[in-house]
Amino acid sequence: MIMKHKWHVRPARRPFVTRRLLTAALASSMTMVGIFSNNLSFNSANAQSLLGKADTGADTEIRTTESAGWQADAKLVAALQARSNHPFNYDEAAVPDYELPDVLGAATEDFTAAQWPDRRAALLEQFRGHVYGRRPQVTPEVFFEYEAAAFDPTGGKAIGKRVRCRIRLGEREFAFPFLIYTPRQSQQSASPEPMPLVVLINNREFPDPQTMSPEASGFWPVGLLIDAGFATAVFHTSDVDPDRADGYEQGIRGFFAENAPRGDESWGSLSAWGWAASRVLDFALKYENIDPQRTAVVGHSRGGKTALWAAAEDPRFQIAYANESGCGGAALSRRRYGETIARITSAFPHWFCPKLTTYSDQEDRLPVDQHQLIALLAPRSVYVASAAEDLWADPRGEYLSIVEAAPAFELLGKTSITDSSMPPLDQPRHVGATGYHIRPGKHNLTRHDWQYFLQFAESQFAE
Ligand code: GCU
Repeated sequence: MIMKHKWHVRPARRPFVTRRLLTAALASSMTMVGIFSNNLSFNSANAQSLLGKADTGADTEIRTTESAGWQADAKLVAALQARSNHPFNYDEAAVPDYELPDVLGAATEDFTAAQWPDRRAALLEQFRGHVYGRRPQVTPEVFFEYEAAAFDPTGGKAIGKRVRCRIRLGEREFAFPFLIYTPRQSQQSASPEPMPLVVLINNREFPDPQTMSPEASGFWPVGLLIDAGFATAVFHTSDVDPDRADGYEQGIRGFFAENAPRGDESWGSLSAWGWAASRVLDFALKYENIDPQRTAVVGHSRGGKTALWAAAEDPRFQIAYANESGCGGAALSRRRYGETIARITSAFPHWFCPKLTTYSDQEDRLPVDQHQLIALLAPRSVYVASAAEDLWADPRGEYLSIVEAAPAFELLGKTSITDSSMPPLDQPRHVGATGYHIRPGKHNLTRHDWQYFLQFAESQFAE
């Protein structure tokens, strides 16, 4: 059994603890104008649906330890490899040799925590310049407009609001709507406790509270979050920046640039959506009773890529949760397993800065890889999740990113996942500031994922 590629996983320098948590039900001054115009926009999620139910996979080629960690199902791999119109690699044995850029930089040995802010700033700049793009330097005026109460799908447990975020540059204005729910009970006492908050970056259909039942929406289970004592807000990505290659002029990027042509390093939609998540956070921290130490940003797939970048750009997010974020999210680009840079930049050229395209089929030239994005979140908390049938997103590559980010967490006094073999299916691994699970099934954000994530968030916020 030959391990063809190099995983640059350092031997654990200290003992680590793996805690397996089993599923348990978890359990102003605003301007008031206008009438809510329900700016609905439907994004037919381009979810990758990979074949039918997976069988229990036979072990294939790669084993780093004898552990019963997750392995891709062999039949699923064979079926995907056999697709002639889908020339991507799903075979672990065919992952090329690769060498990852170092998290701490060249002077790894005597690197101290005091040097991290400079190192982090340099890494952030590299991600801006080569991957997600640079945000505009101008600071607009931002207003929030309360529009209406939002229907409470929890049957009275929540207070829901529809809010409009208005962004003004001189005479010009851009706006996007969002919803926010807070637990009613916890806010009714004489001195209410500040609440934790989860901001969901929604790349699916904008949830319609009128028809949303607390049980029905696995993508945004308001009832589950409210029962756990969390406030939660959501906005739709396309309301901020249309999720289309030709949507530039209708979105926030065109608004900022007055539709000037995009530069090589100008921000893509993922960064624009992340910027919007920060505006929702502005609102929540200013106008709701939110605990700034207990804030999380959550996203699925393209929303998961965005969640990681949003938290890299905005250190006020204490946890980032990237669900099946794949290429351009948690997955290591150099593995070229499933989706590749060439494919993602040609299918979704608006997501990243134009320069990323120049790394198509040349991932090894990229000055960064996605483990360094995870490292940018240290010492805050990060949770990555995969689905067993979502090989397009490269579950192993998503997991290894956390492992490879370990030097940053260690440097900053946090423990993190360092075991290079994956946990078994449906057994979350939570170590220190990091968490991971791979659940059975297809590409989606489900109630099951949220339950694991809430357990992690509660453990992080309890510290
Ligand atoms: C496509 C895309 C992925 C993305 C996914 C999604 O499959 O290739 O990169 O994560 O859509 O956002 O659902």
